[in-house]
Amino acid sequence: MKLSPKMKKALNDQVILEASASNNYLAMASWCEVTGYQGAANYFYAQSDEERTHMLKIVHFLNVLGAVATIPAVKAPTSSYTSLEELIKTALKNEQSVTKAIHNMVEIAQKEKDHSTYAFLEWFVNEQIQEETKFETLLQKFDLLGRDNLGINEIDKFLASEATASTTPVA
Ligand code: FEO
Repeated sequence: MKLSPKMKKALNDQVILEASASNNYLAMASWCEVTGYQGAANYFYAQSDEERTHMLKIVHFLNVLGAVATIPAVKAPTSSYTSLEELIKTALKNEQSVTKAIHNMVEIAQKEKDHSTYAFLEWFVNEQIQEETKFETLLQKFDLLGRDNLGINEIDKFLASEATASTTPVA
């Protein structure tokens, strides 16, 4: 099967989005690490790795179909945040943009009756539901546990427990 030029472009654009997401989470992790949020740092380092695997999925999909993925340059991410809450709000906003882009690709696949890409994208559709829910739930914790040092410390501990360490945890 052959990808349409439109679908190919959309998938390559998604490679950029996933690479940017990986880079953004890396910058977030680094900010958390130097700010003293150890749990959050571990969490976002792992999240950065996860985004890289999303990017690779699309790169392989393109290459297997002979469409040849374009490996993009990635813009420098924001490197400083005013608070952990602001950082997580930014993460949620970014995920919402990614969801929109995925849904847009699903619509292209539907219109073009491109069943292979449609099936490939199903995993991403489900993943985005989880990603958005994850950050929405995290944001609720600021209301539930508070924004003072004790509350933030609890949230950081929660993030530590959630960090599915595909990376070496921060020492
Ligand atoms: Fe790959 Fe978090 O979207």
